[in-house]
Amino acid sequence: MFKRTLIAVSLLCFLFTLAGASLAQEAAKETKKTDVVKHEYVGANKCKICHKKDGIHPSWSETLHAKAWESLKPENQKNKECVACHSTGTTAEGEILEGVQCEVCHGPGSDYKKKSIMEDRELAIANGLLIPDEKTCLKCHNEKVPEEFRSKEKFDFEKMKTKGVHAMAAKEEAKETTKTE
Ligand code: HEC
Ligand code: HEC
Ligand code: HEC
Ligand code: HEC
Repeated sequence: MFKRTLIAVSLLCFLFTLAGASLAQEAAKETKKTDVVKHEYVGANKCKICHKKDGIHPSWSETLHAKAWESLKPENQKNKECVACHSTGTTAEGEILEGVQCEVCHGPGSDYKKKSIMEDRELAIANGLLIPDEKTCLKCHNEKVPEEFRSKEKFDFEKMKTKGVHAMAAKEEAKETTKTE
């Protein structure tokens, strides 16, 4: 009698565990579907197609960010530690995007770069566009920069934003010139 109850109880426990496990699996699948959308890096040349006329790409290409890969000696272009802050990421085709390009600060662009999406700010953000803030910069401008290269000044976002990113007001000027052309 006792033995039979024991078998029944263990069988029930077993069934509950099974049900629990498959519920957890379902839940995991749900989060995967909605949360893990992987946007790919496309490279600054793709952004240039539309952001040349507004002066953004040309002014960015004059910055040290655009040249950050060339600052590395050839042997350091193979050093993962240096590459992490002196490059952008890897494209779907496996190409390393050299230097600190647009997508470091604005997020990988494969899903937001389409004209119809870019024109709608909310939609662009929903497709991976990031509006950078101080935290974006501090991912690289921090105490992990090797001391010999590290700036002695404390990182000042407002100041550094105007100094080293790209022209911001150029967009308005570009619109004016296209109007009068
Ligand atoms: C097909 C044309 C096109 C391409 C390609 C494109 N953009 Fe845009 N982008 C636009 C338009 C149009 C706007 C909205 C008007 C504006 O701000 O100039 C815009 C706006 C933006 C904004 C401003 C968002 C805001 O409202 O603050 C950012 C940032 C941006 N683009 C980044 C990028 C990056 C980075 C790439 C490359 C991965 C890229 N764009 C590729 C057309 C494009
Ligand atoms: C992926 C890493 C990375 C991120 C993110 C980043 N930077 Fe940089 N930044 C660098 C590197 C590397 C250099 C040095 C380039 C060189 O000289 O080769 C640099 C240089 C600069 C410089 C010029 C050097 C100086 O001291 O005058 C400015 C200004 C600057 N960054 C501002 C910013 C701002 C503002 C942000 C955020 C909006 C930012 N950076 C985000 C890596 C980064
Ligand atoms: C945590 C991010 C980070 C890492 C890791 C990093 N750097 Fe940099 N590097 C920067 C930033 C940011 C600057 C710009 C100086 C500053 O603002 O502090 C810079 C500047 C430089 C410069 C330009 C200095 C100048 O005077 O123009 C060289 C060269 C350089 N780094 C080489 C390297 C090498 C070599 C390594 C690997 C051993 C490396 N960096 C690792 C972020 C990084
Ligand atoms: C080092 C970081 C960094 C890089 C690299 C960078 N941006 Fe930006 N971008 C910013 C910041 C910061 C802003 C201002 C965000 C804000 O406060 O609205 C901005 C704003 C913009 C805007 C809105 C312009 C305006 O006047 O409002 C556009 C468009 C844009 N970026 C496109 C690009 C493109 C295209 C590239 C590459 C050619 C690029 N960005 C590279 C940091 C960056």
